Amino acid sequence: MKDVLGEKAYGIDVTETDGTDDLHCPEEAIEKAQKLAADLYGSDECWFLVNGSTCGNEAMVLSAAGPGEKIIISRDAHKSVLMGLILSGAHPIWIYPEFAERESPTAIITPGLIKKACAEHPDAKAVFLTSPSYYGICQPLKEIADICHGFGMPLLVDEAHGGHFRFHEAFPDDALSSGADVVVQSTHKTSGSLTQTSLLHLHSDLISRDRIDQSLKLVQSTSPSYVLMSSLDAARNQMAVNGRDLMDKAIKTAEYIRNGLRTAKGVYVFDEFKDRDPLRIAVSLRKTGIDGFRFQRLLFEKNITTEMADINYVLIIVSWGTTRDEADKLLEAVRRIASLRSSGKTKKEMIPSAEETYKVFRTEQRTSPREAWFSKKKKITLYEAENRIAGEMIVPYPPGIPAIYPGEVITEEIIRYLDKLRCLGASFHGVNDIDNMEIYVTEQP
Ligand SMILES: Cc1ncc(COP(=O)(O)O)c(C=O)c1O
Repeated sequence: MKDVLGEKAYGIDVTETDGTDDLHCPEEAIEKAQKLAADLYGSDECWFLVNGSTCGNEAMVLSAAGPGEKIIISRDAHKSVLMGLILSGAHPIWIYPEFAERESPTAIITPGLIKKACAEHPDAKAVFLTSPSYYGICQPLKEIADICHGFGMPLLVDEAHGGHFRFHEAFPDDALSSGADVVVQSTHKTSGSLTQTSLLHLHSDLISRDRIDQSLKLVQSTSPSYVLMSSLDAARNQMAVNGRDLMDKAIKTAEYIRNGLRTAKGVYVFDEFKDRDPLRIAVSLRKTGIDGFRFQRLLFEKNITTEMADINYVLIIVSWGTTRDEADKLLEAVRRIASLRSSGKTKKEMIPSAEETYKVFRTEQRTSPREAWFSKKKKITLYEAENRIAGEMIVPYPPGIPAIYPGEVITEEIIRYLDKLRCLGASFHGVNDIDNMEIYVTEQP
Protein backbone atom coordinates (compact mmCIF):
# COMPACT_ATOMS: atom_id res chain seq x y z
CA MET A 1 0.00 0.00 0.00
CA LYS A 2 2.84 2.40 0.79
CA ASP A 3 4.18 1.86 -2.74
CA VAL A 4 0.85 2.93 -4.14
CA LEU A 5 0.00 5.83 -1.85
CA GLY A 6 3.36 6.89 -0.42
CA GLU A 7 4.37 7.22 3.24
CA LYS A 8 3.06 10.74 3.67
CA ALA A 9 -0.55 9.79 3.05
CA TYR A 10 -0.36 7.34 5.96
CA GLY A 11 1.31 9.95 8.16
CA ILE A 12 -1.77 12.18 7.97
CA ASP A 13 -4.36 9.38 7.89
CA VAL A 14 -5.18 9.84 11.57
CA THR A 15 -8.45 9.80 13.45
CA GLU A 16 -10.24 11.82 16.14
CA THR A 17 -7.94 11.89 19.11
CA ASP A 18 -6.27 14.48 21.35
CA GLY A 19 -4.92 17.27 19.17
CA THR A 20 -6.56 16.21 15.86
CA ASP A 21 -9.99 17.77 16.52
CA ASP A 22 -13.33 16.37 15.28
CA LEU A 23 -15.19 17.48 12.13
CA HIS A 24 -18.53 16.91 13.84
CA CYS A 25 -17.61 19.08 16.82
CA PRO A 26 -14.69 21.25 15.69
CA GLU A 27 -12.86 23.25 18.35
CA GLU A 28 -9.21 23.21 17.34
CA ALA A 29 -7.38 22.75 14.02
CA ILE A 30 -10.47 21.90 11.95
CA GLU A 31 -12.37 24.87 13.35
CA LYS A 32 -9.43 27.12 12.51
CA ALA A 33 -9.13 25.70 8.99
CA GLN A 34 -12.87 26.15 8.34
CA LYS A 35 -12.69 29.75 9.61
CA LEU A 36 -9.79 30.48 7.24
CA ALA A 37 -11.87 29.08 4.37
CA ALA A 38 -14.90 31.20 5.38
CA ASP A 39 -12.66 34.31 5.39
CA LEU A 40 -11.19 33.50 1.99
CA TYR A 41 -14.52 32.79 0.29
CA GLY A 42 -16.48 35.56 2.04
CA SER A 43 -18.98 33.48 4.04
CA ASP A 44 -20.12 33.71 7.68
CA GLU A 45 -19.41 30.04 8.27
CA CYS A 46 -17.85 27.23 6.24
CA TRP A 47 -18.07 23.45 6.68
CA PHE A 48 -15.58 20.96 5.23
CA LEU A 49 -17.30 18.19 3.26
CA VAL A 50 -15.73 14.78 2.72
CA ASN A 51 -18.66 13.31 0.74
CA GLY A 52 -18.45 15.89 -2.03
CA SER A 53 -21.00 18.49 -3.04
CA THR A 54 -23.35 15.52 -3.15
CA CYS A 55 -23.72 15.65 0.64
CA GLY A 56 -23.70 19.48 0.53
CA ASN A 57 -26.74 19.46 -1.78
CA GLU A 58 -28.47 16.88 0.40
CA ALA A 59 -27.81 19.00 3.49
CA MET A 60 -29.01 22.20 1.78
CA VAL A 61 -32.35 20.58 0.89
CA LEU A 62 -32.67 18.95 4.34
CA SER A 63 -32.04 22.23 6.10
CA ALA A 64 -34.50 24.21 3.98
CA ALA A 65 -37.63 22.04 3.66
CA GLY A 66 -39.18 19.06 5.46
CA PRO A 67 -41.87 16.52 4.56
CA GLY A 68 -44.59 18.02 2.34
CA GLU A 69 -42.99 21.46 2.32
CA LYS A 70 -42.29 23.14 -1.02
CA ILE A 71 -38.94 24.03 -2.46
CA ILE A 72 -38.56 25.78 -5.82
CA ILE A 73 -35.87 24.04 -7.88
CA SER A 74 -34.48 24.51 -11.34
CA ARG A 75 -35.09 21.27 -13.31
CA ASP A 76 -31.44 21.06 -14.37
CA ALA A 77 -30.41 20.15 -10.81
CA HIS A 78 -27.83 17.41 -10.20
CA LYS A 79 -29.12 14.04 -8.98
CA SER A 80 -27.79 14.75 -5.47
CA VAL A 81 -30.57 17.34 -5.12
CA LEU A 82 -33.03 14.53 -5.79
CA MET A 83 -31.36 12.48 -3.06
CA GLY A 84 -31.90 15.45 -0.72
CA LEU A 85 -35.59 15.47 -1.72
CA ILE A 86 -35.94 11.76 -0.97
CA LEU A 87 -34.31 12.20 2.43
CA SER A 88 -36.30 15.30 3.37
CA GLY A 89 -39.69 14.46 1.83
CA ALA A 90 -39.95 17.99 0.43
CA HIS A 91 -42.03 18.58 -2.69
CA PRO A 92 -40.19 20.15 -5.64
CA ILE A 93 -41.77 22.99 -7.58
CA TRP A 94 -39.84 22.72 -10.85
CA ILE A 95 -38.86 25.66 -12.93
CA TYR A 96 -37.82 24.79 -16.44
CA PRO A 97 -34.82 26.75 -17.76
CA GLU A 98 -35.31 28.69 -21.00
CA PHE A 99 -33.18 28.78 -24.11
CA ALA A 100 -31.89 32.24 -24.93
CA GLU A 101 -29.50 30.85 -27.53
CA ARG A 102 -30.33 27.96 -29.87
CA GLU A 103 -26.89 26.36 -29.96
CA SER A 104 -26.46 26.60 -26.19
CA PRO A 105 -25.61 23.35 -24.39
CA THR A 106 -27.58 24.55 -21.35
CA ALA A 107 -30.51 26.81 -20.69
CA ILE A 108 -30.82 29.65 -18.21
CA ILE A 109 -33.21 30.64 -15.48
CA THR A 110 -34.51 34.15 -16.05
CA PRO A 111 -35.41 36.43 -13.13
CA GLY A 112 -38.96 36.42 -14.56
CA LEU A 113 -39.23 32.64 -14.05
CA ILE A 114 -38.15 32.99 -10.42
CA LYS A 115 -40.56 35.87 -9.76
CA LYS A 116 -43.46 33.85 -11.20
CA ALA A 117 -42.59 30.72 -9.18
CA CYS A 118 -42.21 32.69 -5.91
CA ALA A 119 -45.47 34.59 -6.51
CA GLU A 120 -47.37 31.36 -7.26
CA HIS A 121 -45.82 29.53 -4.30
CA PRO A 122 -45.23 32.13 -1.56
CA ASP A 123 -45.25 29.26 0.97
CA ALA A 124 -42.12 27.69 -0.60
CA LYS A 125 -39.25 27.46 1.88
CA ALA A 126 -36.37 28.25 -0.50
CA VAL A 127 -35.19 28.56 -4.09
CA PHE A 128 -32.50 26.13 -5.25
CA LEU A 129 -30.42 26.81 -8.37
CA THR A 130 -27.41 25.31 -10.08
CA SER A 131 -24.89 27.92 -11.22
CA PRO A 132 -22.65 27.60 -13.15
CA SER A 133 -23.90 24.66 -15.17
CA TYR A 134 -21.48 21.85 -15.98
CA TYR A 135 -20.71 23.85 -19.13
CA GLY A 136 -19.72 26.88 -17.07
CA ILE A 137 -22.75 29.02 -17.90
CA CYS A 138 -23.99 31.14 -14.97
CA GLN A 139 -27.46 32.18 -13.93
CA PRO A 140 -28.19 35.88 -13.25
CA LEU A 141 -27.78 35.31 -9.52
CA LYS A 142 -27.74 38.94 -8.32
CA GLU A 143 -31.17 39.72 -9.70
CA ILE A 144 -32.49 36.33 -8.63
CA ALA A 145 -31.18 36.74 -5.05
CA ASP A 146 -32.96 40.11 -4.77
CA ILE A 147 -36.23 38.54 -5.93
CA CYS A 148 -35.93 35.61 -3.49
CA HIS A 149 -35.14 37.92 -0.60
CA GLY A 150 -38.10 40.12 -1.53
CA PHE A 151 -40.28 37.03 -0.88
CA GLY A 152 -38.33 36.22 2.30
CA MET A 153 -36.91 33.05 0.72
CA PRO A 154 -33.26 31.99 0.95
CA LEU A 155 -31.40 31.29 -2.30
CA LEU A 156 -29.43 28.04 -2.19
CA VAL A 157 -26.83 27.58 -4.92
CA ASP A 158 -25.08 24.47 -6.15
CA GLU A 159 -21.82 26.09 -7.28
CA ALA A 160 -20.06 22.72 -7.59
CA HIS A 161 -18.32 23.88 -10.77
CA GLY A 162 -17.58 27.47 -9.74
CA GLY A 163 -15.45 27.33 -6.58
CA HIS A 164 -12.58 29.05 -8.42
CA PHE A 165 -14.53 32.13 -9.56
CA ARG A 166 -13.36 34.29 -6.70
CA PHE A 167 -9.72 34.12 -7.72
CA HIS A 168 -9.62 35.99 -11.04
CA GLU A 169 -11.48 38.97 -12.45
CA ALA A 170 -12.03 37.16 -15.80
CA PHE A 171 -14.48 34.78 -14.10
CA PRO A 172 -18.15 35.58 -13.48
CA ASP A 173 -19.11 36.79 -9.98
CA ASP A 174 -19.29 33.93 -7.50
CA ALA A 175 -22.57 32.97 -5.84
CA LEU A 176 -21.69 34.30 -2.36
CA SER A 177 -20.82 37.76 -3.60
CA SER A 178 -23.98 37.71 -5.74
CA GLY A 179 -26.14 37.40 -2.63
CA ALA A 180 -26.74 33.64 -2.32
CA ASP A 181 -27.53 32.45 1.21
CA VAL A 182 -26.07 28.95 1.17
CA VAL A 183 -23.54 27.73 -1.40
CA VAL A 184 -21.79 24.44 -2.06
CA GLN A 185 -18.53 24.25 -4.05
CA SER A 186 -16.69 21.13 -5.25
CA THR A 187 -13.20 22.28 -4.38
CA HIS A 188 -11.93 19.01 -5.84
CA LYS A 189 -13.30 19.86 -9.29
CA THR A 190 -11.67 23.24 -9.84
CA SER A 191 -9.33 24.20 -7.01
CA GLY A 192 -6.95 21.30 -6.53
CA SER A 193 -8.13 19.45 -3.40
CA LEU A 194 -8.58 15.66 -3.43
CA THR A 195 -11.63 14.00 -4.96
CA GLN A 196 -14.66 13.98 -2.63
CA THR A 197 -13.75 17.26 -0.92
CA SER A 198 -16.08 20.24 -1.06
CA LEU A 199 -17.05 23.31 0.96
CA LEU A 200 -20.46 24.38 2.20
CA HIS A 201 -20.87 28.08 2.98
CA LEU A 202 -23.54 29.99 4.90
CA HIS A 203 -23.90 33.73 4.37
CA SER A 204 -27.33 34.60 5.71
CA ASP A 205 -29.67 34.58 8.64
CA LEU A 206 -32.60 33.38 6.51
CA ILE A 207 -31.65 29.78 7.24
CA SER A 208 -30.64 28.19 10.53
CA ARG A 209 -26.93 27.38 10.90
CA ASP A 210 -27.81 24.71 13.46
CA ARG A 211 -30.12 22.99 10.98
CA ILE A 212 -27.31 22.94 8.40
CA ASP A 213 -24.91 21.59 11.01
CA GLN A 214 -27.37 18.85 12.03
CA SER A 215 -28.16 17.97 8.40
CA LEU A 216 -24.47 17.54 7.67
CA LYS A 217 -24.20 15.17 10.61
CA LEU A 218 -26.83 13.00 8.87
CA VAL A 219 -25.06 12.79 5.54
CA GLN A 220 -21.33 12.87 6.34
CA SER A 221 -19.23 9.98 7.49
CA THR A 222 -18.60 9.72 11.22
CA SER A 223 -15.01 8.84 10.30
CA PRO A 224 -14.08 11.73 8.02
CA SER A 225 -10.73 11.26 6.32
CA TYR A 226 -7.95 13.51 7.58
CA VAL A 227 -6.18 13.05 4.26
CA LEU A 228 -9.17 14.59 2.50
CA MET A 229 -9.60 17.35 5.08
CA SER A 230 -5.89 18.23 4.93
CA SER A 231 -6.14 18.54 1.17
CA LEU A 232 -9.00 21.02 1.57
CA ASP A 233 -6.90 23.16 3.88
CA ALA A 234 -3.88 22.92 1.55
CA ALA A 235 -6.00 23.86 -1.49
CA ARG A 236 -7.40 26.82 0.46
CA ASN A 237 -3.85 27.94 1.21
CA GLN A 238 -2.78 27.47 -2.41
CA MET A 239 -5.72 29.52 -3.66
CA ALA A 240 -5.07 32.25 -1.07
CA VAL A 241 -1.39 32.55 -2.00
CA ASN A 242 -1.24 31.66 -5.72
CA GLY A 243 -4.87 31.49 -6.85
CA ARG A 244 -4.75 34.45 -9.21
CA ASP A 245 -1.51 33.38 -10.91
CA LEU A 246 -2.67 29.79 -11.36
CA MET A 247 -6.00 30.88 -12.79
CA ASP A 248 -4.30 33.39 -15.07
CA LYS A 249 -2.15 30.63 -16.54
CA ALA A 250 -5.19 28.41 -17.09
CA ILE A 251 -7.20 31.23 -18.69
CA LYS A 252 -4.40 31.97 -21.17
CA THR A 253 -4.12 28.31 -22.18
CA ALA A 254 -7.89 28.09 -22.59
CA GLU A 255 -7.90 31.18 -24.81
CA TYR A 256 -5.17 29.63 -26.96
CA ILE A 257 -7.25 26.44 -27.40
CA ARG A 258 -10.44 28.37 -28.04
CA ASN A 259 -8.79 30.48 -30.74
CA GLY A 260 -7.35 27.37 -32.41
CA LEU A 261 -10.75 25.66 -32.41
CA ARG A 262 -12.62 28.72 -33.68
CA THR A 263 -10.57 28.74 -36.87
CA ALA A 264 -10.83 24.98 -37.51
CA LYS A 265 -13.15 23.94 -40.36
CA GLY A 266 -16.41 22.21 -39.36
CA VAL A 267 -15.86 22.94 -35.66
CA TYR A 268 -18.34 24.94 -33.59
CA VAL A 269 -17.22 26.43 -30.28
CA PHE A 270 -19.91 27.70 -27.97
CA ASP A 271 -18.90 31.29 -27.22
CA GLU A 272 -22.15 32.97 -26.23
CA PHE A 273 -23.03 34.52 -22.86
CA LYS A 274 -20.93 36.99 -20.92
CA ASP A 275 -21.27 35.12 -17.62
CA ARG A 276 -19.42 32.00 -18.64
CA ASP A 277 -16.38 30.20 -17.23
CA PRO A 278 -13.57 30.71 -19.78
CA LEU A 279 -11.96 27.41 -18.67
CA ARG A 280 -14.87 25.31 -20.00
CA ILE A 281 -14.89 24.84 -23.75
CA ALA A 282 -17.94 23.20 -25.34
CA VAL A 283 -17.08 22.02 -28.86
CA SER A 284 -19.46 20.52 -31.37
CA LEU A 285 -18.99 18.76 -34.69
CA ARG A 286 -22.76 18.61 -35.15
CA LYS A 287 -22.54 20.29 -38.54
CA THR A 288 -20.34 17.46 -39.81
CA GLY A 289 -22.82 14.81 -38.60
CA ILE A 290 -20.62 13.59 -35.73
CA ASP A 291 -22.48 13.51 -32.42
CA GLY A 292 -20.82 14.40 -29.11
CA PHE A 293 -20.45 10.79 -27.87
CA ARG A 294 -18.74 9.67 -31.07
CA PHE A 295 -16.53 12.77 -31.07
CA GLN A 296 -15.44 11.93 -27.51
CA ARG A 297 -14.66 8.32 -28.45
CA LEU A 298 -12.59 9.46 -31.43
CA LEU A 299 -10.61 11.83 -29.19
CA PHE A 300 -10.07 9.02 -26.68
CA GLU A 301 -8.66 6.81 -29.44
CA LYS A 302 -6.07 9.55 -29.89
CA ASN A 303 -5.27 9.41 -26.15
CA ILE A 304 -7.16 12.56 -25.31
CA THR A 305 -9.53 12.32 -22.37
CA THR A 306 -12.22 14.97 -22.21
CA GLU A 307 -14.51 15.83 -19.30
CA MET A 308 -17.79 14.69 -20.82
CA ALA A 309 -19.94 14.41 -23.90
CA ASP A 310 -23.60 14.96 -24.62
CA ILE A 311 -25.56 14.50 -27.82
CA ASN A 312 -24.05 17.63 -29.37
CA TYR A 313 -20.99 18.67 -27.45
CA VAL A 314 -17.73 17.48 -26.02
CA LEU A 315 -16.70 19.47 -22.96
CA ILE A 316 -13.05 20.31 -22.49
CA ILE A 317 -11.88 21.63 -19.12
CA VAL A 318 -8.59 23.48 -18.95
CA SER A 319 -6.61 23.74 -15.73
CA TRP A 320 -3.38 25.43 -14.69
CA GLY A 321 -1.71 22.05 -15.26
CA THR A 322 -2.63 21.95 -18.98
CA THR A 323 0.52 22.43 -21.08
CA ARG A 324 0.96 24.05 -24.52
CA ASP A 325 1.97 20.65 -25.92
CA GLU A 326 -1.27 19.11 -24.70
CA ALA A 327 -3.20 22.04 -26.16
CA ASP A 328 -1.52 21.57 -29.57
CA LYS A 329 -2.16 17.81 -29.51
CA LEU A 330 -5.83 18.48 -28.82
CA LEU A 331 -6.13 21.05 -31.64
CA GLU A 332 -4.50 18.72 -34.13
CA ALA A 333 -6.79 15.83 -33.12
CA VAL A 334 -9.95 17.93 -33.41
CA ARG A 335 -8.93 19.19 -36.87
CA ARG A 336 -8.34 15.61 -38.05
CA ILE A 337 -11.64 14.32 -36.65
CA ALA A 338 -13.59 17.23 -38.15
CA SER A 339 -12.17 16.32 -41.56
CA LEU A 340 -13.89 12.88 -41.26
CA ARG A 341 -17.16 14.69 -41.93
CA SER A 342 -18.46 12.57 -44.81
CA SER A 343 -17.68 9.24 -43.15
CA GLY A 344 -19.78 10.12 -40.07
CA LYS A 345 -22.03 7.27 -38.93
CA THR A 346 -24.49 9.60 -37.22
CA LYS A 347 -26.87 11.41 -39.52
CA LYS A 348 -27.09 15.13 -38.79
CA GLU A 349 -30.85 14.97 -38.43
CA MET A 350 -30.56 12.23 -35.76
CA ILE A 351 -28.90 14.61 -33.33
CA PRO A 352 -31.45 16.62 -31.36
CA SER A 353 -30.42 20.06 -30.17
CA ALA A 354 -30.04 20.71 -26.44
CA GLU A 355 -33.21 22.79 -26.70
CA GLU A 356 -35.17 19.76 -27.87
CA THR A 357 -33.56 17.74 -25.09
CA TYR A 358 -34.78 20.13 -22.40
CA LYS A 359 -38.33 20.05 -23.81
CA VAL A 360 -38.38 16.31 -23.19
CA PHE A 361 -37.92 16.87 -19.44
CA ARG A 362 -41.24 18.68 -19.07
CA THR A 363 -43.70 16.32 -17.47
CA GLU A 364 -45.94 16.12 -14.43
CA GLN A 365 -44.51 15.48 -10.94
CA ARG A 366 -47.43 13.28 -9.78
CA THR A 367 -46.09 12.39 -6.30
CA SER A 368 -43.15 13.63 -4.26
CA PRO A 369 -39.84 11.89 -5.06
CA ARG A 370 -39.84 10.41 -1.53
CA GLU A 371 -43.35 8.97 -1.87
CA ALA A 372 -42.46 7.35 -5.21
CA TRP A 373 -39.15 6.08 -3.84
CA PHE A 374 -40.80 4.30 -0.89
CA SER A 375 -43.92 3.10 -2.71
CA LYS A 376 -44.42 -0.49 -3.93
CA LYS A 377 -42.69 -0.81 -7.27
CA LYS A 378 -42.31 -3.18 -10.16
CA LYS A 379 -39.79 -3.48 -12.93
CA ILE A 380 -40.99 -3.16 -16.51
CA THR A 381 -39.28 -2.27 -19.79
CA LEU A 382 -39.17 1.39 -20.59
CA TYR A 383 -41.18 0.72 -23.75
CA GLU A 384 -44.17 -0.36 -21.60
CA ALA A 385 -43.76 2.54 -19.21
CA GLU A 386 -45.65 5.33 -20.96
CA ASN A 387 -47.94 7.19 -18.54
CA ARG A 388 -46.60 5.21 -15.56
CA ILE A 389 -45.07 6.95 -12.53
CA ALA A 390 -41.30 6.50 -12.29
CA GLY A 391 -40.15 4.73 -9.13
CA GLU A 392 -36.48 5.56 -9.70
CA MET A 393 -34.39 8.06 -11.56
CA ILE A 394 -32.73 7.67 -14.95
CA VAL A 395 -29.69 9.84 -15.23
CA PRO A 396 -27.51 10.29 -18.30
CA TYR A 397 -24.07 10.60 -16.66
CA PRO A 398 -22.32 12.95 -16.90
CA PRO A 399 -23.74 15.53 -16.51
CA GLY A 400 -25.95 13.84 -13.90
CA ILE A 401 -29.18 15.74 -14.53
CA PRO A 402 -32.00 13.19 -14.17
CA ALA A 403 -33.99 12.74 -17.37
CA ILE A 404 -36.74 11.26 -15.20
CA TYR A 405 -37.31 11.71 -11.45
CA PRO A 406 -39.15 9.32 -9.13
CA GLY A 407 -42.75 10.51 -8.99
CA GLU A 408 -42.71 11.95 -12.52
CA VAL A 409 -44.99 10.67 -15.28
CA ILE A 410 -43.05 8.87 -18.04
CA THR A 411 -43.98 10.27 -21.45
CA GLU A 412 -43.61 8.86 -24.95
CA GLU A 413 -41.12 11.68 -25.70
CA ILE A 414 -38.89 10.67 -22.80
CA ILE A 415 -38.91 7.01 -23.90
CA ARG A 416 -37.91 7.97 -27.45
CA TYR A 417 -35.23 10.33 -26.15
CA LEU A 418 -33.66 7.73 -23.82
CA ASP A 419 -33.69 5.15 -26.58
CA LYS A 420 -31.86 7.57 -28.87
CA LEU A 421 -29.29 8.34 -26.16
CA ARG A 422 -28.72 4.62 -25.64
CA CYS A 423 -28.19 4.04 -29.37
CA LEU A 424 -25.69 6.91 -29.46
CA GLY A 425 -23.70 5.30 -26.62
CA ALA A 426 -24.52 7.51 -23.62
CA SER A 427 -23.82 6.24 -20.09
CA PHE A 428 -26.59 6.12 -17.50
CA HIS A 429 -26.96 5.98 -13.74
CA GLY A 430 -30.11 4.48 -12.36
CA VAL A 431 -31.11 2.03 -15.10
CA ASN A 432 -30.34 -1.49 -13.95
CA ASP A 433 -30.20 -3.10 -17.32
CA ILE A 434 -29.33 -0.65 -20.02
CA ASP A 435 -29.74 -3.11 -22.90
CA ASN A 436 -33.28 -4.02 -21.90
CA MET A 437 -34.02 -0.45 -20.79
CA GLU A 438 -35.83 -1.65 -17.68
CA ILE A 439 -37.16 0.74 -15.10
CA TYR A 440 -38.94 0.56 -11.73
CA VAL A 441 -42.36 2.18 -11.82
CA THR A 442 -44.81 2.53 -8.95
CA GLU A 443 -47.39 -0.25 -8.75
CA GLN A 444 -50.15 2.33 -8.45
CA PRO A 445 -50.56 3.63 -12.02
C1 LIG B 1 -23.80 20.44 -10.76
C2 LIG B 1 -23.25 19.39 -9.85
N1 LIG B 1 -23.58 19.42 -8.54
C3 LIG B 1 -23.12 18.52 -7.67
C4 LIG B 1 -22.29 17.50 -8.08
C5 LIG B 1 -21.79 16.51 -7.08
O1 LIG B 1 -20.52 16.91 -6.71
P1 LIG B 1 -19.46 15.94 -6.00
O2 LIG B 1 -18.84 15.13 -7.08
O3 LIG B 1 -18.49 16.93 -5.39
O4 LIG B 1 -20.16 15.14 -4.99
C6 LIG B 1 -21.92 17.41 -9.43
C7 LIG B 1 -21.03 16.33 -9.88
O5 LIG B 1 -20.53 16.29 -10.96
C8 LIG B 1 -22.41 18.37 -10.33
O6 LIG B 1 -22.10 18.33 -11.63
